[in-house]
Parts: sequence; structure tokens; C-alpha cells
Amino acid sequence: MAENSNGKVYDFDKAIDRHNTNCLKYDFGRERKGREDLLPLWVADMDFRLPEEILGDLKARIDHGIFGYTDPKDSYFDSLNNWTEKHYGYSVDRKWVTVAPTVIFALANCVNAYTEAGDKILIQQPVYYPFGEVITDNGRVLVDSPLKIVNGHYEIDFSDLERKISDTELKLFILCNPHNPVGRVWTREELLQIAILCVKHDVILVSDEIHCDFIYPGYEFTSALSLGAAYRDHLLVLHSPTKTFNIAGLQIANAIIPDKKLRLKYQKANAANGYSQANIVGLKALESVYTKGERWHQEMLHYLKGNVDFVRDYIQKHLPKIRLIEPEGTYLLWIDFSGLELTDDELEDLIVDRAHLWLDPGAIFGPETAQFERFNIACPRKTLEKAFEQLKEAIDELEQENQEVVAQAI
Ligand SMILES: Cc1ncc(COP(=O)(O)O)c(C=O)c1O
Repeated sequence: MAENSNGKVYDFDKAIDRHNTNCLKYDFGRERKGREDLLPLWVADMDFRLPEEILGDLKARIDHGIFGYTDPKDSYFDSLNNWTEKHYGYSVDRKWVTVAPTVIFALANCVNAYTEAGDKILIQQPVYYPFGEVITDNGRVLVDSPLKIVNGHYEIDFSDLERKISDTELKLFILCNPHNPVGRVWTREELLQIAILCVKHDVILVSDEIHCDFIYPGYEFTSALSLGAAYRDHLLVLHSPTKTFNIAGLQIANAIIPDKKLRLKYQKANAANGYSQANIVGLKALESVYTKGERWHQEMLHYLKGNVDFVRDYIQKHLPKIRLIEPEGTYLLWIDFSGLELTDDELEDLIVDRAHLWLDPGAIFGPETAQFERFNIACPRKTLEKAFEQLKEAIDELEQENQEVVAQAI
């Protein structure tokens, strides 16, 4: 691997045109937003290309030319285990692992495995919106224990949480760690409090840890699986390399369930949903990224940290009325626009019609956050600069117009 003069091997500044590749992020503006002029910083999908050493493994698999049924072998479990031991400090016994096409498919299996129609399931909004959908679409009752914002920092309201968890109709808690969209990386102490409550009130904890490889300096990821054996009969982890290496299109995820009873229930729901063998290229991709992707991952994280720094500085210098919630992890920035004092519709107009940006509006993550926008910053810095320049121009133009209206009224 040849390093450049900055000691780096990979170039994340390189812009790659993703148009006309059936890419959800870039190619579906007309279908999803009714227009094609928006710069997309919405869906959690990165604009970075995999390194050649990993592409070589995938190409070799493709070149074989036969893509029949498959199942994971030792090399799959070994590469997964090496990654979890090195990065999160827990070992995975292969018996614990059930392969899934996606994390949200596995989550829906959990809903079906551990609850019945009419049971209550807890989430912490604002949160990744499919959590709510798998609950209500399966006829379960969504219970929200909203995160509260204290001095610009999101926290868990543990008294509200305990009150809701202690309801005997509540059977499942879906945790997002690191949390999308608020960017919290839950501490060991917070996770222990959650796990203790789940055991005490006999609630199953499903920890979605898909963003766990995006942790910024100064923060440490704790997996629910590393809390200790005492909690393992009440929890499981959903995990995947698809965010870390941007291979969501290859559809590979794992439900990691140490407890045998929980695992058998999960596997029954999985079979009931008709899933059995994994995607053959997805299995290869997991092995390859966990075996050869360490350096790329480290450099990508460093680059993302530079993107966070860019956004923070830009907001401080040019956009004093909007507020960045400082992320501890993930490449999704949660930004508060309430300082502009716009209505929710005016904010949407500002983002779409004036700034020509495609973001995820805060309203989709929960009932209280319509004045927030989620920005995906996993793109070359130039793309991010362009997006924030468009935003600044739009805000300047709007404020100018408002001043003219006020001047005319005087
Ligand atoms: C917290 C969280 N879970 C799951 C997913 C989706 O994962 P998958 O495509 O494997 O269902 C995302 C994607 O953004 C996410 O943010």
C-alpha cells in the first residue's frame, strides 16, 4: 500500500459520479422528491469507493460465474470475530450468529419473535424512523421514551424510561447505539442502567449497533454484548458491516444472540418470514472488508472527523442562527434550525426550494423535531462545502427578503 506525502493511502476527496447507477441517493430525486435539482445529503449511504484490495476479492468471486445457494463457513465467522474482538472487545461464538439480509429485516424478526399483536415496544425518539414502522406495521404499540436535550446534549430520561419499561404490556426495547440521528454513543454506565431495567422488568433489549464503527476521538463504543453475562439472557445485537464499508446494496447483516432460548425464537420467526440462505457476494464482502479494510476504515473515520470540523466551523462563521448537535459518533449530523424562527413549511421551502438540498427532515424521526434536519456528511469535502454554501445563500436571501418586507411596512 503506497502512502502519499501526507502518510495516507486512500483519497476520500475524490468525487465519483454516482448518477445513472440506480443509486437511491442520487438517482431517485424525481421519484422521491418530484425534482432532480437537489444535492443529496439524505440516506445513510457514503460517497466513498471501496479500496482495490477489497474490490479484487469481490471481482474474483464474480469471475467464478456461478452464484448458487450458500451458507457462512469458518472464514466468515473468523473474520467477524476478529473484528468484534479487536474493535468492541467481545468474542462471537458462531452459534450465536444468524445471518440476515438487512438489520431492519432482522429487527422485524425480533418484533415477531418476542412480541405478539397488541404488545408494547419502546423506542427513544427522535430515532431512525423504520424502528417505528416495524412496530406499527406489525400491529404492535409504539411507546416512546423521548430523549431530552440538556445544554445541547441528548440524554436519556431514566425516570420516564423506568416508568414505561415497568408496564407489564411492554415486551421489547429497541435501542440505537450509536444513536441515529442524535449522534450519541451511549456510555457503559447508561447501557448498564438500561440493561438492569430490562432484566428487572423482563423486557428484551434489541441493540441496533450498525453505526458502531463511526466513533469520534474522545468517545468509546460499548456494545450491549460486552456488559456482562448477567444481562445476556435479555438482549441481542443487530450488526452489519454495511454502513462501515458502504455495502448496503450487498445485503448482509447478523443477529448476534448468545441466549439459546432467544435465539431459537428468533430463528423460528426468521423461518416464518421465509429467509434462509444469504447473498453469496454479501458473505464474501463481509469477510473481505473485515480482513482487509482496517486501514481504509481508519482513514475514512479521520476524513469524516475533518468533515465534522468543517461543518462546525462553517456554522460558527456563517450560520449563527443554526445549531449543530455535536456528534459523538455516526456520519449523520443533527442540526437545529429553530433559531431561524420559520414555520415547519417555511423550513422545508428553505431547504428544498431555496437551498436545493435533499436532507432528511427532522419530522420523520419523531413528533418533536420538525425544526431539525439530518445531514449525511459521508461525502468528499467539496460536496459538503457546496451544500453549505447553497444553504448560506438561501438563508441570506430569505433574511434579505424579510428585511425588505419589514422596511416596506414601516
Ligand atoms: C440505526 C440504523 N439501523 C439500520 C439501518 C439500515 O440497515 P439495513 O439496511 O441493514 O436494514 C440504518 C440505516 O441508515 C440505521 O441508521
